[in-house]
Amino acid sequence: MSAVVIVGAQWGDEGKGKIVDIYTEFADVVVRYAGGPNAGHTLVVGDEKLVVRLLPSGILREGSTCILGQGMVIDLDVLVGEIDELLRRGRTHVEAQLWISDRAHLVLPYHILVDTLREGTAKEGKALGTTKKGIGPAYEDKVRRVGIRAGDLKDKSKLTSKIASALEAWEPVIKALGGESPTVAQVLATLEPRIPRILPRLANASKMVDDAVRAKKRVMFEGAQGTLLDIDHGTYPFVTSSSAVAGGAAIGSGIGPNRISTVIGITKAYATRVGAGPFPTELEDASGKHLREVGAEFGSVTGRPRRTGWLDIPALRYAARVNGLDGLALTKVDVLTGLDKLRVCVAYDTPEGRTDDLPIDYLDEPGRAIPVFEELQGWSESLNTVRVLEQLPAAARAYVRFIEDRSGVPIYLVSVGPRRDETIMLHNPFVGRAAAP
Ligand code: GDP
Ligand code: IMO
Ligand code: MG
Repeated sequence: MSAVVIVGAQWGDEGKGKIVDIYTEFADVVVRYAGGPNAGHTLVVGDEKLVVRLLPSGILREGSTCILGQGMVIDLDVLVGEIDELLRRGRTHVEAQLWISDRAHLVLPYHILVDTLREGTAKEGKALGTTKKGIGPAYEDKVRRVGIRAGDLKDKSKLTSKIASALEAWEPVIKALGGESPTVAQVLATLEPRIPRILPRLANASKMVDDAVRAKKRVMFEGAQGTLLDIDHGTYPFVTSSSAVAGGAAIGSGIGPNRISTVIGITKAYATRVGAGPFPTELEDASGKHLREVGAEFGSVTGRPRRTGWLDIPALRYAARVNGLDGLALTKVDVLTGLDKLRVCVAYDTPEGRTDDLPIDYLDEPGRAIPVFEELQGWSESLNTVRVLEQLPAAARAYVRFIEDRSGVPIYLVSVGPRRDETIMLHNPFVGRAAAP
């Protein structure tokens, strides 16, 4: 049985898109289980670059079944736009290999409006820095039990009355935020042209995924966002609104947790965060600038410059615990080339003393969680042509080994560039282990 979860171990943008695309070569089915168009997963294939926001990152591999699970919130404009973009690029297989859970919730224009108004009117220090894609309000509707699900598109009169109820609840909120609520007719008008494209793709995704696992197909669950943005386990309230952690894969795709065989966490060789919230190892010096510029750390959805910082091992250990990580895929090691000294946070000083756990409740309280760093030697050689560990400069290999030792999680893959071939594969959960660092 191979059912593998790929989950972000940091604050998102760890390189999940690249890693899912790589492993999809060996998978039959790829399922997105959480989040919506707040995600931006970059795929680089030859000279072609594509950022997917809703489509699973396995979509470029012809023959892989791609499923949008019920844990997602889906904006049909974005989805149809992504499909059309791929069709324009000659990927004619895309539509036939895509299935959408009829239980996934829809992101509607009033969600985007509320998200945007809230961010725009938040008091100093209170804005979350969301992607303004309507994610929070769409999940609010789901939990309030007035959400519109993809399956509701099948029946226009039910759809109309559900939109009317949801809008009724949002109208006073929109008014209080200084906005103007759309009418039911306006909301329907945005949906209607999309419906004929979506209906044939609706499926009982839970059954599809469970059948695939039982038939011993190789299934991959693609996380969005990251552990520290998870609604339960992240740096609340500076989080997204979904279950980004590995446990979310069971809920968000509709299978039992015991069906999952392997969980792989993706982490950059340093840290980034986009949006507001605690980031203890953040850098505002020349090293931070190096990471942003060499790592091209600008949001793939919003274009915002990402905040950059040193790798945080206690955060990685925390991710290992809450996700049950079996292995790590370490990305963007090449970006560290040229930095003379590397620092890694290995512990925190807190009012209770030194700890190598992440003191998550202290992170936003000034002076109560002070990172303790160890310094490692940098290297100057380019890594982009490295394909096996033995080719890494000694300092880079020591850095990789340090992360494995201190996090306590075996490294399954090292990525040295955005392209498929810029990869050192150490362990493929669909095949087997090749070498140890
Ligand atoms: P995701 O949201 O986790 O899929 O990550 P994003 O796609 O938002 O951001 C990761 C960025 O890093 C993308 O531009 C990737 O093309 C790029 N990337 C992935 N792996 C590597 C790597 O090993 N080295 C470098 N230099 N870039 C990488
Ligand atoms: P991928 O899948 C990085 C961040 C936003 C903001 C917070 C809440 O590409 O890794 P939201 O719009 O979800 O309500 O915003 O979460 N955020 C991400 N940061 N990568 C992402 O996705 C993100 N999705 C949301 O910047 O801080
Ligand atoms: Mg991203």
